[in-house]
Amino acid sequence: MVATHPLWQAHHDDLTALAARGRIRALLPRRGRDFASNDYLALSGAGRLREAIGAALARGVPAGSGGSRLLRGNDPEHEALEAEAAAWAGSETALFVSSGYAANVALLATLPQTGDVIVHDDLIHASMHEGLRLSRAAALPVPHNDADTFAATCAQWRAAGHTGRIWLAFETLYSMDGDCAPLSDLAAIAERYDAVMLIDEAHATGVFGHDGRGLAHGLDGRADTVVLRTCGKALGVEGALVCGPAVMRDFLVNRARPFIFSTAPSPLMAAAVREAIRICVDEPQRRAALAALSAHAARLLTPLGARDTGTQILPLILGDDARCMRVAGAVQAAGFDVRGIRPPTVAPGTARLRVSITLNTTPADLDALATTLQDSLT
Ligand SMILES: Cc1ncc(COP(=O)(O)O)c(C=O)c1O
Repeated sequence: MVATHPLWQAHHDDLTALAARGRIRALLPRRGRDFASNDYLALSGAGRLREAIGAALARGVPAGSGGSRLLRGNDPEHEALEAEAAAWAGSETALFVSSGYAANVALLATLPQTGDVIVHDDLIHASMHEGLRLSRAAALPVPHNDADTFAATCAQWRAAGHTGRIWLAFETLYSMDGDCAPLSDLAAIAERYDAVMLIDEAHATGVFGHDGRGLAHGLDGRADTVVLRTCGKALGVEGALVCGPAVMRDFLVNRARPFIFSTAPSPLMAAAVREAIRICVDEPQRRAALAALSAHAARLLTPLGARDTGTQILPLILGDDARCMRVAGAVQAAGFDVRGIRPPTVAPGTARLRVSITLNTTPADLDALATTLQDSLT
């Protein structure tokens, strides 16, 4: 690494240490067939989305919102999207936020109050962790997908005499493991302990459930359920929809700093997300094709060591960071964009290839990937 100005020496040293541990990262151009994106339904380049954005421009929708939603930034496109999204999800209301990251920070930092506790899965996303850091409530982690420990943790907290609200925070489909939460068990625990669920559906939205509403779609409309649906993955656009009770939405509008003190998302993006939701409803064949492609991937890749998750995310855990990055490099050099995922994104000793299945690839691409992987792994 080249020398730097003394003002930046500490940062330079940190990067040098990262490089020495094989953990340095860099921004690379898109290359190779897509086994890395979250564009699961291949909507990001879909004609209908382009047309929706073109039509919005033509009817005078502005590119930028011009300010916070609480100032002049509130656009009819935001409100039209929120009404349509709530109807789609089956929730009382929806709130459009600029990203899933901002939404998770807002939810965890704002909703739980002093004296409350957030019982959360060990593997929740970094954005939820960021919200935990800002929250006034206590936080208790639970081993991944362990519903019994979720219940025992709630019971112990109550038995210790705490009277605050319990909040359960978890994802439905985990982005680095591809596995799914024990949703009905967690919903039963929420009922038993009068808890509220904060459910992150980032990777399930558009892919699973009736009309692509996600894995938790049966819970929408319950007073104890808040669902985060991100718009930058299967929906192909950007932003996030927080779906839940009206009082929750009003509280966020009044109290959530990432919402209040931030420029509202582009109204053009709101129009595009609305169209993406309509595509989810109108084109179930996309979900069916993705399910078929994911099953094909599982047949090919589980014999090579990938987990058969039953979803579009197939992790192939190699353990050692250096080996993981070596195999990823070999596969990339052969024209396949498969990314190696290392700590701290995943636990030490669990470095992995995260194979993401999207409709940007074909069964023939998968056949070729499997052959290359087999060679690279030996
Ligand atoms: C589980 C999960 N939640 C939230 C987010 C953040 O969403 P966004 O990309 O819209 O900021 C991500 C993004 O990777 C995610 O994987």
